[in-house]
Amino acid sequence: MNLRTLAEQVQAGKFQSGLERHLSADVRARLRGMDVNGIESWFGQVIRNPIDLSGEGSRELLELYYTAAWHNLFETLHIPAEASLFEIGAGDTVYIPRALNAFSGSGAYVTANLNKQLTQNFLRKTADLSIQVRVIEEDGARILDYCDPGTFEVVSFHHAINDIVQTIIAGIEGIDTITNNWWAIEPQMLQAVMRYHEAGTLRRAAFEPFIQIVETCGHLLRQGGYMIFDNCTYAGYEQLGYSSEFHSNYINLVRAWIMEAGIGLEEVELPSFDRNWWMILRKA
Ligand SMILES: C[S@@+](CC[C@H](N)C(=O)[O-])C[C@H]1O[C@@H](n2cnc3c(N)ncnc32)[C@H](O)[C@@H]1O
Repeated sequence: MNLRTLAEQVQAGKFQSGLERHLSADVRARLRGMDVNGIESWFGQVIRNPIDLSGEGSRELLELYYTAAWHNLFETLHIPAEASLFEIGAGDTVYIPRALNAFSGSGAYVTANLNKQLTQNFLRKTADLSIQVRVIEEDGARILDYCDPGTFEVVSFHHAINDIVQTIIAGIEGIDTITNNWWAIEPQMLQAVMRYHEAGTLRRAAFEPFIQIVETCGHLLRQGGYMIFDNCTYAGYEQLGYSSEFHSNYINLVRAWIMEAGIGLEEVELPSFDRNWWMILRKA
């Protein structure tokens, strides 16, 4: 989201008693000592293309950026306080449950997550939240075996397009993404995705299973509910032979796939959210 708007909100103390409590005392104190220009400039050192996590406090700023952006989305889209939200492939990233917790405190959060170790970390990191949190250790493609259709206000794909595509390609290549350490096999997965991309076979391999997941998640949504995607590109991946240019185009790639598939989701544009990094779809 727009960094100026975010800096103004942080400076005004909008997230002080909620989202900022997950940050270290040092980062909180630094933020409190800055004016809007200083906060915007600090965010700008981290939130760029590619995302730069080399500076002190940068991981915490990235967390504040994403949790605040999702919190703002819930407000702007008038998501009800008792909303149910489904996230696919959360891994051990807790931005969305923390954002929902700060927004509502009485909502319900469900994720389908395949990797076992990341699920354990996720459960530990969300134990302090007051919203209901449920992890289903299953492929998101089968979520309707666990949850009723038409019962969720929001479905979130937070930086998950790549995770889903990697998992699809890993399945074809015989790489176990469930019991392995995800970070140990990540280079292998990224290089496999690159091989398919460069050979022009990525679409043939991934289009159908990916769209099946989106369509299934669409069934989870109530009418008028939102499916929200974000993506960003982290620095340092080119060294693994993974193209930042390819990764940066993920939202545009799946926007085209979803529109082509024609599954009853319409795009909503919000001025503060860049279409290259965010895609907000509404169930018609
Ligand atoms: C590295 S974590 C990423 C977490 C989060 N999306 C992020 O980028 O911050 C990737 C997780 O996505 C999960 N995943 C990928 N495809 C999935 C699918 N189809 N269903 C459920 N989980 C999936 C993996 O098992 C893994 O736990």
